[in-house]
Amino acid sequence: MIEILSREAFGGTLREPGSKGISPIFRAKIRTATGSARCYVKPLTDQIQCPTTGRFVANQELINEALGYVLAKSCGLTVPSAAGIVMLDREQIPSSLWAELDRAAGRHEQENYFCWFSQDMDFPSLKQRHLNGQQLTSLHDRRLKRLSLELAKNPDSPKVIAFDGWLLNSDRNAGNLLASGPSGLTLIDHGRILNFPNWAPGGTGTFPEPCMNKLQWLIDLHNPHWSEKLPNSSARVMAYNGFAVSFRQDGENAARQVLSEFFDQIDIDAIIQLLQDLFDPASYAKAAGHVI
Ligand SMILES: Nc1ncnc2c1ncn2[C@@H]1O[C@H](COP(=O)(O)OP(=O)(O)O)[C@@H](O)[C@H]1O
Ligand SMILES: [Mg+2]
Repeated sequence: MIEILSREAFGGTLREPGSKGISPIFRAKIRTATGSARCYVKPLTDQIQCPTTGRFVANQELINEALGYVLAKSCGLTVPSAAGIVMLDREQIPSSLWAELDRAAGRHEQENYFCWFSQDMDFPSLKQRHLNGQQLTSLHDRRLKRLSLELAKNPDSPKVIAFDGWLLNSDRNAGNLLASGPSGLTLIDHGRILNFPNWAPGGTGTFPEPCMNKLQWLIDLHNPHWSEKLPNSSARVMAYNGFAVSFRQDGENAARQVLSEFFDQIDIDAIIQLLQDLFDPASYAKAAGHVI
């Protein structure tokens, strides 16, 4: 479950993140139901520019984050121990992020922002651990290869790939996996599930380039045909099939609860229907080379 908090939950900013992705992000103390937590906080604008039409549309990134978080958890994947939504005033957000936020919203200064927060897990992302600070292309390529080889051996990889395949996550890059323990992977950043956050209820988002499973691509890059090999493809298909059970047991309810904060019943039913329609074990097994 996620928490939905008001501006009073804000306990002040902390030192800047060691690594950033593409979005404005900062670290802050957030008072959750279980106490004060050090968190990464990502303010999200109400609107974004659609990359296919150029028009400004509702930004579904907050919903993507929340849906991705509760569904990953229900599928038995590891996510930050606390996460949720906090509404913050512009003044509570570091002023260094304002210009970028205004740009994203089409030169519009919002008074307040829905923010996605997740507890700082203190683990580096795979990008930080393997790829940071390398300007030399040759060294970067060698490090990327080492990461690809490690991920090929990681027992969590097939499950993460299958999860991203179900939800059309177009952005599982090395910055969106935290290295928790020797081989554990903690999933963060589900802002780009359903392809892109420009969707309307009942449909997926659109982007000029086709949706790609980046984790599978990275592993296959340096482990030729890894994803087609039997133990890996069957692990993926088995994990995928298991998601149906998790969704029935608690994923759907958790998703409905998140959606009920933002949508009316017709839209909620349309989004749930889409999640069910995207889940297609027969096509997934066939694509993985399994005859059924
Ligand atoms: N809960 C967290 N615990 C530890 N590090 C985090 C957490 N959330 C984000 N980060 C760090 O911040 C970076 C950017 O966060 P992310 O959610 O991926 O934003 P973006 O949308 O910009 O990609 C991540 O790559 C990771 O290094
Ligand atoms: Mg990211």
